[in-house]
Amino acid sequence: MEISGPAFFIGKGDDSLISFGSGQPDMPPPVEAFDILKTYTGFKYGPVQGEEPLRAALAEKYAGSTADDFVITNGASEAIDIVLRAISKEGGTVLLPRPYYYSYPFNVRYAGMTPVYYDLVDGKIDFDIFAQVLDEATAVVINSPSNPTGTVQNVDTLKKIEALCAERGVWVISDEVYKDIIYVRENYLIQGPKVVTINSFSKTYAMCGLRVGYVYTQNKELVEKIVEMRTHTAMNTSIVGQMMALAALSSPASYIAHNLEVWKARRDMMVSGMRELGLDLWEPEGAFYVLPKFEDSGRTVAELYEKHRVITYDGAWFGAPGRVRFSYALDASKIIEGLSRLKEFLTEK
Ligand SMILES: Cc1ncc(COP(=O)(O)O)c(C=O)c1O
Repeated sequence: MEISGPAFFIGKGDDSLISFGSGQPDMPPPVEAFDILKTYTGFKYGPVQGEEPLRAALAEKYAGSTADDFVITNGASEAIDIVLRAISKEGGTVLLPRPYYYSYPFNVRYAGMTPVYYDLVDGKIDFDIFAQVLDEATAVVINSPSNPTGTVQNVDTLKKIEALCAERGVWVISDEVYKDIIYVRENYLIQGPKVVTINSFSKTYAMCGLRVGYVYTQNKELVEKIVEMRTHTAMNTSIVGQMMALAALSSPASYIAHNLEVWKARRDMMVSGMRELGLDLWEPEGAFYVLPKFEDSGRTVAELYEKHRVITYDGAWFGAPGRVRFSYALDASKIIEGLSRLKEFLTEK
C-alpha cells in the first residue's frame, strides 16, 4: 500500500517501530477519570447538548459563560465538522492558515464551502496578509498552538484578528485543543458574538479514544442550530465518556502542570537532537510537534518507515511539502532511539 495519508499509520504499531506519527498523548488520563467507573451505571440516551453537570463545570473555567453556552461533542473533530456545517452558506469560503491541521480542508468541503489559504510566515500569522485575504470569508479558522507547526500566535495578532472579524461579521472558529500545552505564555481566549471555541479532552487529559470535546460559543442561535443537527446525527456524546471528562476536570491542577513539564523536556530533547543533526526547524512553543525541513518529504517518510522502522507524517498532508512532522508523544528512551535512527537515515543519504 502506498503511504498516501495519515490513515496509513493511524493505529499502527509494533515493538520494532518508533512512532513519531501519532498525535495522542502517551501519558495516562487523571486517576479521577477512572475512579468513577467503579460505581458507574448510566447507559441510556442523554441530552443532545451534553450532560448538564459537565457543561456547568466547563462554564466555571470560562469567565462570563453559562452551561447553556456549551455543546459536548465527539471530540474536537465533531465540533469542527458540525460548526462548519451549521454556519455553512452557499458559495461560502473559509480562511485557513497554511500549514494547517490536515482535516480542516476536508471539513470545509464536507460543509459545502471552499477553503482559502494564506501562508504562515515562519509559523506565525502575518496580520497584513490575513487582512488582505479575509475578503468576504464566511469564517476563519485559528489554531494556536498549532498542529503541525507547534507555534503559538502573538496575542497582539489574535486581538487584531478578533477586532477585524467582529467588524466584518466573520465567524472565528478557534481550535484551542492544545491550549493547556503552551510553553511560552498563558492561552489567550479569542472572544466575541461570532466566536466559536473548540476544545477537547483528548490532549489536555490524554483521553483521545473517549471522544469527548466541546463547542463553546456565546451565540445562542448557533448553539440551537447545532443541537438541532445533532438530534438527527450523533445525538448525545458517550455518557460514560462525559462522566469521565467531568471527573478529569476535578483533578488537581498538578496533573496538567506535570504533563506540561514532561512535554517541555521532550520538546527540548527533540529540538537539540534535531539541531545537532543539522535540521532546520521552528522551536515548538506549544502542542507536541516539530516540523523540520526535508528536501523530499514524501520519500523521507517512506524510507524512514520502510528502512528504519520510524513513523513520521509528511508535511504535504498539512499543506507543508518539504517538511516532515514529528510528534513527541512518546517516552524519552524512544525519542533517543528514534533520533539515532534518524541519524542513520541522514548519514546514508
Ligand atoms: C488541531 C487539532 N484539532 C482537532 C483535533 C481533533 O481532536 P479530537 O481528538 O478532540 O477529535 C486534533 C487532533 O489531533 C488536532 O490536532
